[in-house]
Amino acid sequence: MNTLAIIGAQWGDEGKGKITDLLGQKADIVVRFQGGNNAGHTIIFGDKKIILHQIPSGILHDNCISVIAHGVVFEPEAFLKELEDVKKHIDVTPERLKISLNATVITTYHKLLDAIREGKTSNKIGTTGKGIGPAYEDKVARRAIKIKDLFDKEILTKKLSIALEEKSYLFEHFYKTEFPTIEQEVERLYSLGQEIFKYVCDTFNYLDTAQRDGKKVLFEGAQGVLLDIDYGSYPYVTSSSTGAAGIMTGAGLSNGACGEKLGIVKAYTTRVGEGPMPTEIAEEIGDQIQKIGHEFGATTGRRRRCGWIDLPILKYSVKCSSLTSIALTKLDVLSGLSELKVCYAYEIDGKEYDCAYPGLDLAKAKPLYKSLKPFNDTFADENTYSAELEDYIKMIEEGIGVKVGIVAFGPERSQIHFRQNYFQ
Ligand code: GDP
Ligand code: IMO
Ligand code: MG
Repeated sequence: MNTLAIIGAQWGDEGKGKITDLLGQKADIVVRFQGGNNAGHTIIFGDKKIILHQIPSGILHDNCISVIAHGVVFEPEAFLKELEDVKKHIDVTPERLKISLNATVITTYHKLLDAIREGKTSNKIGTTGKGIGPAYEDKVARRAIKIKDLFDKEILTKKLSIALEEKSYLFEHFYKTEFPTIEQEVERLYSLGQEIFKYVCDTFNYLDTAQRDGKKVLFEGAQGVLLDIDYGSYPYVTSSSTGAAGIMTGAGLSNGACGEKLGIVKAYTTRVGEGPMPTEIAEEIGDQIQKIGHEFGATTGRRRRCGWIDLPILKYSVKCSSLTSIALTKLDVLSGLSELKVCYAYEIDGKEYDCAYPGLDLAKAKPLYKSLKPFNDTFADENTYSAELEDYIKMIEEGIGVKVGIVAFGPERSQIHFRQNYFQ
């Protein structure tokens, strides 16, 4: 099978962008199937850096076609800015970038709602503020604006009126905030629609045919399994299916199955925003990891919380997304530290758990640790890893039941060791 899924196995920011960019060199097509510009996927190439939010991370390879499929919530204004940025590095023709006519549009109202709820209500999630949750709410409530609606002012006005019926009351009477009129929003969205028109098409059939023709298709997940709406640490999650299951609903798999499912795992754990994180480190070494790893959110710039690697959530992610191998990133950040711990299980109300499950109360989880001898390896030590580093990798493989296929020792494309071949 020529399909490969890249899935974040923690709370996002595992290095999906970097791995997608690398494997994208071999892919014909890279597809985003869920999420939106809440994602921040960093690619470092030479002395340049780009952070992609909506555009798939294969875009820097001119042999590779990028697809934004129907499961994505799409913000046209942010997309156009991002495209400008990408075009500073590489030419992008409409043949190389396709947006589904059925993706859901993020409107000004969604962004307003997201911001107000985070600031004024008691249900603070620590969102990225991009309007993701409110846009998915409208989709599920069957009143979303789809990309195809942007090209007809009459349809757009009608649909926006329906979408705004309840919201305008809320803005006016409950949140007491100003909001654009329907006419203003129609004008804004219509003109954005004209700008993106050339990229819009039926991506479903395009992908279906491509897969049947044996094209190499890489599905690029955003966020991570622990942020999944069903599998994640609810309610502190995002509003989409971030795991492999999201590919079926968000893009379509012509033969019903994805071949390799590569989980991306940071060598430690990070989280941005609210919500439980059992292995979060309160001591000085947590700050040290944060500093060495430059752990700041790629979308919001917020400081990421840091903790030891958490095998119960990784084992869970392997189950949720049927991961077949993992890429272990940022090992260089742990190299040279004075201590090294691995959480192999939790204790909750006197019971031990070595794997999470949907609804497990992570806020109550007391992490149980094994201390390992720290390693002090550098990227140059290829094939001559220290026994300590081998032990760390082995402990992870044995703990989660799948092999480490990729080891990353730095943010650059070259700072990587392959232990397995992908897209052969
Ligand atoms: P994504 O959302 O999963 O694509 O990850 P982000 O881009 O949000 O965050 C990952 C960060 O780690 C980025 O700044 C990457 O440049 C960086 N990075 C990726 N792999 C490595 C690695 O192996 N070592 C180091 N030091 N940095 C890495
Ligand atoms: P990538 O793809 C890390 C988090 C937010 C918040 C929660 C809900 O770069 O890994 P949302 O705006 O989606 O409603 O926020 O999810 N979050 C991420 N955390 N990486 C991401 O994406 C994230 N996207 C959303 O911080 O806790
Ligand atoms: Mg990120």
